[in-house]
Amino acid sequence: MGFYEDRVLPHLINCGCGNAVMMRQREKVVPLARGVVLEVGIGTGHNLPYYDSRRVERLIGVDPSEASWRLAGERAASVSFPVEFLGLSGESIPLPAASVDCAVITFSLCTIPDPAQALREVARVLRPGGQLHFCEHGRAPDAGVRRWQERLDPLWHRVMGGCHLNRDIPGLLANAGFACGDLATGYLPRTPRIAGFNVWGSAGLHVAS
Ligand SMILES: C[S@@+](CC[C@H](N)C(=O)[O-])C[C@H]1O[C@@H](n2cnc3c(N)ncnc32)[C@H](O)[C@@H]1O
Repeated sequence: MGFYEDRVLPHLINCGCGNAVMMRQREKVVPLARGVVLEVGIGTGHNLPYYDSRRVERLIGVDPSEASWRLAGERAASVSFPVEFLGLSGESIPLPAASVDCAVITFSLCTIPDPAQALREVARVLRPGGQLHFCEHGRAPDAGVRRWQERLDPLWHRVMGGCHLNRDIPGLLANAGFACGDLATGYLPRTPRIAGFNVWGSAGLHVAS
């Protein structure tokens, strides 16, 4: 990891992902987590204050950036449930199959190099009936916005630590076996439209009939 990734990017992510608009998005999905929870791409721990401590038994956070996790400091210290951090990639999660009650992913499927594999891993470790609670930005429905997403993605990806503007979040979820019937979608206020189209909700795995 270079100087930018280790010393600069975690601070940029910590500031960028901590704005009030994104915090309101977290509030919509994170409190739904129950039991043993896996958070993929936990970053600097911005979701920690939104977990319902009466319902979370234990949280396992996965993220290859240990430098980001170091910035979680006070947020990690102030929750009342145990938090275990694994400094690893979400594409290979060292947990047994069907070992977590639910999973949380926010604003990370844009950045994880192989999001399809990470979601397959989440599907593997989720217990039957378990839910994935998520909020992500991604490919916009409007052709004009989408054109700008395509144009700017190569530059954005380089500057923003691997983040992509144009990932098809519902498609990724569906391909990994998640049934996402009624997802909420919308452009976030006070956010450039290229990075502001959000998809959020909860999804369980399709049950074979
Ligand atoms: C934009 S940040 C979002 C962080 C956090 N989820 C939030 O909502 O504030 C994207 C995160 O994805 C993490 N990430 C990058 N590659 C990853 C991978 N292969 N597996 C898991 N997380 C990854 C980054 O380190 C970073 O913490």
